[in-house]
Amino acid sequence: MTPAVSPVGTVSGPGPEEARLDPRDFARVAAIVDREARIALQPTKATLVFSRLSRRLREHGLASFGQYISLVESDAVERAAMVEALTTNHTHFFREGHHFDHFKQNVLGELQARARAGHAVRLWSAGCSSGEEVYSLVMCMLGTSRPEARWATDGDVKVLATDLSSRVVAAARRAVYPENTVKPIPDEYRRLWLREEGADFAVVDQARELVTARELNLFGEWPMRQQYDVIFCRNVMIYFDDNATSELIARFARLLRPGGYLYIGHSERLIGPGADVLINCGQTIFRKEGALQ
Ligand SMILES: C[S@@+](CC[C@H](N)C(=O)[O-])C[C@H]1O[C@@H](n2cnc3c(N)ncnc32)[C@H](O)[C@@H]1O
Repeated sequence: MTPAVSPVGTVSGPGPEEARLDPRDFARVAAIVDREARIALQPTKATLVFSRLSRRLREHGLASFGQYISLVESDAVERAAMVEALTTNHTHFFREGHHFDHFKQNVLGELQARARAGHAVRLWSAGCSSGEEVYSLVMCMLGTSRPEARWATDGDVKVLATDLSSRVVAAARRAVYPENTVKPIPDEYRRLWLREEGADFAVVDQARELVTARELNLFGEWPMRQQYDVIFCRNVMIYFDDNATSELIARFARLLRPGGYLYIGHSERLIGPGADVLINCGQTIFRKEGALQ
């Protein structure tokens, strides 16, 4: 049964003891999620907030959203759980396939040359969800034969995958996917870089070991100590407001080495000072030219 939304935005039932999420509760939740993760929750998301947080109320045996929000305000663990419950983690292998085509045709050769010349090569899937994006990228890097993959497996090549949600980071680290999700992976990659594990498919160690998956709030401190060659941050900034987006893009621009690439989601755009040094070079693909002032 779908929860009912009243004209003033109160959402009720079939939650715990018919709890109601009134506009004041919604505003308190939105303020916390904005402060913690810079996620901008629009009032149109009241139904989603209601249904996702009803589960949390039930787990804590609480009868009202007011009680639950007070708990969240005083308890950092539950606060993180609430933010995580309100993230949208939809993803799939080879999503927005033109990005992977562009990467193979325009970027891969340069990365191979840099690795062979002894340079570090660094890639980042920022907002990686359960890992389908990062392993799509890794399969493109490794190619269609094991000898072809050596530049990456034997070089100083590292791929970072980060997300706010500990649940999806654990899935990215585990790298085991149900059969129906691996269908978009081209056969030549599947044969080499996946192995059957029961009814599922696991990314083989050689590919998985290139990836470090860790929890990271994009608006917290970043652990990187060197510049990056490639950043994928796709379908993440849609959840942020313009200030947060602009701040994040400036940080990406600083982190990229000159000539490095940023891939963003199909409905996202670059704004703020970072956009001045990121030159469009494909559909939602940007290359850093020069240094950010
Ligand atoms: C829709 S998924 C996108 C996954 C993948 N990049 C793709 O395009 O298929 C958005 C991800 O961004 C993460 N996210 C949202 N806000 C974040 C933040 N402030 N810091 C880090 N990750 C965040 C969510 O947890 C979610 O897994």
